[in-house]
Amino acid sequence: MKITVVGSGGWGTALALLLLENGHEVTIWSHRPEKTALLRERRENPMLPGVPLPEAMNYTSDLAGAADSGAVLMATPSYAVRETTRQLGAYLTPGTIVISASKGIEKDSSLRLSQVIEEELGGKCPVVVLSGPSHAEEVGRHIPTGVVAAADDLAMAGQVQDLFMNPRFRVYTSDDRVGTEICAAMKNVIALCAGCCDGLGCGDNTKALLMTRGMAEIARLGVALGGRKETFTGLAGMGDLIVTCCSMHSRNRRCGILIGQGKPIQVALEEIGAVVEGYYAAANARTLAQKAGVEMPISQAAYEVLYEGREVRGVVSHLMGREKRSELEESWS
Ligand SMILES: NC(=O)c1ccc[n+]([C@@H]2O[C@H](COP(=O)([O-])OP(=O)(O)OC[C@H]3O[C@@H](n4cnc5c(N)ncnc54)[C@H](O)[C@@H]3O)[C@@H](O)[C@H]2O)c1
Repeated sequence: MKITVVGSGGWGTALALLLLENGHEVTIWSHRPEKTALLRERRENPMLPGVPLPEAMNYTSDLAGAADSGAVLMATPSYAVRETTRQLGAYLTPGTIVISASKGIEKDSSLRLSQVIEEELGGKCPVVVLSGPSHAEEVGRHIPTGVVAAADDLAMAGQVQDLFMNPRFRVYTSDDRVGTEICAAMKNVIALCAGCCDGLGCGDNTKALLMTRGMAEIARLGVALGGRKETFTGLAGMGDLIVTCCSMHSRNRRCGILIGQGKPIQVALEEIGAVVEGYYAAANARTLAQKAGVEMPISQAAYEVLYEGREVRGVVSHLMGREKRSELEESWS
């Protein structure tokens, strides 16, 4: 199949390589012509160093080329999804499968990215979400990985499963797009917090507490918004949370470490040098939690540190000192 990968960061490139390996005709689109030229000349992406790009890979900075694609994979940062989809919409044939691989929530609307894509395409293309514990650096190096393809229509998710599945990349289907996307966006907030814990010198106990209660609040939000609770213990849920909170590949965690060590927020964000989705998602978590009427104390604390100048040192004792409660008292029970 002819497939256009929209977004030439680490993730778009790793998935483009996988698709090429699976026998598809793949073109990577960059929003800047200089990036297209660089990829074509160097045959390596600076965001994915040490992973050569084969001769068969195509590059463009013209979205018109996506017109006769059977599928389009969206892998830009979340803030660029609406604008890029709007431009793409003029060229896409109705029925083209659009795969959303970015992780985030739109800043002002608090919409999930598949909703943003659907809005921009006027519903003319089915949208499948691809998510799970999958660092580009590892997928690019053929390290065994498993993810979820989620769509309202399971048959459509199955088509995306067939595109990506190979002996080193397992894809499970799901019909829970809402839960999958809420997990994908919100785990980045918890990963920032996990990094802060590391930067502050907290231990493994603290991180396990943070991750488990972090997932409890993500699930509370996701279920309130219509997600299925099983999703939160699956690959897109706990699976992705584990990898993001524990790995040094995670830029959200690395950014959190810098903040925990006392670096100002903007300095930490700049030092990472790539999109830190958790920074944006913390603001969305707050808005969505308020709309859905659920409590997200960890994400709220992250918001206060990231946007309101709250001192990170006091946050752990604040969270530890919250009123006592039962672990099993959740809004969906
Ligand atoms: N890196 C990973 O391991 C990974 C894994 C799963 C999901 N994701 C998600 O995929 C998305 C992209 O992440 P990444 O790691 O590839 O990011 P990255 O920082 O490596 O690259 C981002 C890319 O987007 C491009 N870009 C920047 N502004 C743009 C704009 N206005 N319009 C179009 N393109 C623009 C940049 O040129 C760059 O090529 C994020 O939402 C991220 O959460 C990343």
